[in-house]
Amino acid sequence: MPVRGRSCTPGRGTVRRVGDTGGVNDPHAPGTRHFASDNYAGVHPEVLAAVAAANVGHTPAYGDDPWTERLQEVVRAHLGDAAVAYPVLNGTGANVVALQAMLPRWGAVVCAETAHVNTDENGAPERVGGLKLLTVPTPDGRLTPDLVARQAWGFGDVHRAQPGVVSLTQATELGTVYTPDAVRELCDQAHALGMRVHVDGSRIANAAAHLGLPLRALTTDCGVDVLSLGGTKNGLLLGEAVVVLDPGAVDGVEYLRKAGMQLASKMRFVSAQLVALYEGDLWLRSAQRANAMAARLRAGLDALGLDITLPTEANGVFVRLPRPVAAALRRTWRFYDWDVADGTVRLMCAFDTTEQDVDDLLAALGEALGGTAAS
Ligand SMILES: Cc1ncc(COP(=O)(O)O)c(C=O)c1O
Repeated sequence: MPVRGRSCTPGRGTVRRVGDTGGVNDPHAPGTRHFASDNYAGVHPEVLAAVAAANVGHTPAYGDDPWTERLQEVVRAHLGDAAVAYPVLNGTGANVVALQAMLPRWGAVVCAETAHVNTDENGAPERVGGLKLLTVPTPDGRLTPDLVARQAWGFGDVHRAQPGVVSLTQATELGTVYTPDAVRELCDQAHALGMRVHVDGSRIANAAAHLGLPLRALTTDCGVDVLSLGGTKNGLLLGEAVVVLDPGAVDGVEYLRKAGMQLASKMRFVSAQLVALYEGDLWLRSAQRANAMAARLRAGLDALGLDITLPTEANGVFVRLPRPVAAALRRTWRFYDWDVADGTVRLMCAFDTTEQDVDDLLAALGEALGGTAAS
């Protein structure tokens, strides 16, 4: 079991003032692009322009506005005529609202041990959603029918929280991608057991870009019931959406969204961003760039003879770094420890990562490795 730690020296919980470098080069310097997370990136200029364009006069609040109406058309064009989008504020909120709407009070969610809902939402699905998570270890973040079967049992047993949903993450937290066949297999299994399928699609654009497929080929066409559609990690200021693909899979999404504090009063600004991202090909262009930069980074790490621990199928690279080398890099860049025990770190690329950013990191890495070898 890897020992996770999110230290990026200083830790992301450390309170710092802008300009306070604390011995590290200024992490807030304009133009600095880090490798900690795709949500370290700013807002895509086209998204910001869409927010400015939506800033006209008064419009009804809470989603009764033309931008949210337009978003429904955009989402239907991607995901099919039955798709209904419920914009929310963040990815944790999207997951909790979606899962709550899919399950009764006695329901449980089967998911990977590494799933964001399990590891990085501070227990929100349990605390806020009142749901039980039934987790399974996976080699690379991906569920399979055999792995799901380890937890999908005990139907009708009053002593066991009732497995009602399989939740998979696309792309996974470990930077891997499910093929449509793999998603379809999980959906078929779940449906045969009377369960439903939720996809945490925080990085679904990166998965689609990797596979060269439209979004519906990974979701609607495979039988996915509900999707948490990503935005923030792909260039939005903030905003995701719960997208219901099968209306029969949910109950009361709109009420749960409000009760769960995810109903934006000025929703037009969330919807305008999602429209800007998904109306044309911005979602794809941005994800393609992030993925391409991760591939470039991986090739460079490989050439340096480093141990890359997982496939690079989306925008994250997992690599083992000698401790002094990681410390040297952290004088300039932030990135997360992924497995503190074995020195694995996660290097994440974003829509705005450049070739130069990657090459600078690789050059510093080469230098630090040289220093380590010499010492
Ligand atoms: C797989 C996955 N799902 C969901 C989220 C959304 O989280 P947040 O609530 O920070 O927007 C993240 C962000 O790290 C994520 O990596």
